[in-house]
Amino acid sequence: MTTPPSPTVAPATGRLGVLTVGLGAVASTLIAGVELSKRGLGSPIGSLTQMGTIRLGKRTEDRSPLIKDFVPLATLDDIVWGAWDVFPDDAYVSASRAGVLESGKHIESISDALREVRPMQAAFERKYARNLDGEHVKPTTSKRAMLNAIREDINRFKEEKQCDRLVMIWCASTEIFIEPGRAHMDLESFEKAIDANDETISPAQLYAYAALLEGVPFANGAPNLAVDAPVLRQLATDRNIAISGKDFKTGQTLMKTVLAPMLKARMLGLSGWYSTNILGNRDGEVLDAPENFKTKEESKLGVLEDILQPSKYPELYGNVFHKVSINYYPPRGDAKEGWDNIDITGWLGYPMQIKVNFLCRDSILAAPLALDLILFSDLAARAGMGGIQEWLSFYYKSPQVAPGLYPEHDLFIQLTKLKNTLRWMMGEDVITHLGREYYEEM
Ligand SMILES: NC(=O)c1ccc[n+]([C@@H]2O[C@H](COP(=O)([O-])OP(=O)(O)OC[C@H]3O[C@@H](n4cnc5c(N)ncnc54)[C@H](O)[C@@H]3O)[C@@H](O)[C@H]2O)c1
Repeated sequence: MTTPPSPTVAPATGRLGVLTVGLGAVASTLIAGVELSKRGLGSPIGSLTQMGTIRLGKRTEDRSPLIKDFVPLATLDDIVWGAWDVFPDDAYVSASRAGVLESGKHIESISDALREVRPMQAAFERKYARNLDGEHVKPTTSKRAMLNAIREDINRFKEEKQCDRLVMIWCASTEIFIEPGRAHMDLESFEKAIDANDETISPAQLYAYAALLEGVPFANGAPNLAVDAPVLRQLATDRNIAISGKDFKTGQTLMKTVLAPMLKARMLGLSGWYSTNILGNRDGEVLDAPENFKTKEESKLGVLEDILQPSKYPELYGNVFHKVSINYYPPRGDAKEGWDNIDITGWLGYPMQIKVNFLCRDSILAAPLALDLILFSDLAARAGMGGIQEWLSFYYKSPQVAPGLYPEHDLFIQLTKLKNTLRWMMGEDVITHLGREYYEEM
């Protein structure tokens, strides 16, 4: 197989407008973290674009620049924030309310910058997130009118803030479960469904459609249907606009996509994986509604099967009991706790167990992923790379892949894919890890 020629990457000159749909815990933590980092008041830990290096050439060459010095990424100083939310709170109020960051240390020092980020009215309908009830919404639930209003917002924001490029990222609540149906197959049906106010067209799809119509790359931090419907996938491909997967891979699923490949690499069997979480933020409250949890459940359950390939290894993985639950428990706020009980089998079928207890902070884990997705989606746009960006699978519980392909969930294969894509983009050799050359010269 020959490697296609590397693209030409346009420089990251000018201002990058970042439109977050939702200005809740994740979005306000992202914005605050970037503003703090810009001022040297915080460290962007967890962000590959800000802290990661990339090895180039042979191991003996000692070339490992920072990723941000190797590929032309927008700098944090170039970012201009915009948002929509169901509540009118600016990023200062939202960050204070979310309770993720310490006010004295991480909010007050950047209060002016946070207060400047005031959300636009949301395109919202309660039937898609029953546990939310905000007033800061567009005065219409006509899908066509909402779509047009989002498009106007995008253009007004771009002009007012004098942005050269935009990226949109969904950091809003998880919508109810919707499977792609007739309305999502092609543009004609989709357009008709919008005019008919078809229930299977949710606000997330309208934001995503508006983004694509305005030529804006779209990333989805939640598991609900958006650009992963056939119609929008095709539109993104036809218009050469970058789209990627859905649902930030932050906590329990991140662990799963590290541990499950290890079991498979060692050919250890698995009989059950019981995962439960307690979570007390607004996300937990929205996910307390069964229709919204179902969307999350589908996204969380998919990974094991794709990694373990039970049809190839029926004896090891043919009968796995996999259970995931999330319990809304307000005292914990954003400090999520996840428990995993993993029942495995070894030599001659002897049972063993692994227990994982991850005491994490949801938005602290999600914010750096959101930043990387923004900067890499913008990079893809400047490299003329449109349609599905499989190399960004690294960030998602549900990576988006070409129809007929199974997604790659193994975190380290995803990282290799991402770094090789960067090498390829910049005309460097991709790294196969074969390593024969080191021994041929001996
Ligand atoms: N934090 C993590 O580790 C993590 C991981 C994976 C996915 N996610 C997802 O990221 C999303 C954001 O999480 P969060 O903790 O910030 O939640 P949050 O509830 O604090 O914030 C979501 C915000 O979206 C707003 N919103 C809802 N519908 C909207 C609409 N149609 N238009 C505009 N705004 C809308 C809500 O009012 C709320 O302020 C959730 O869907 C969550 O499931 C988070």
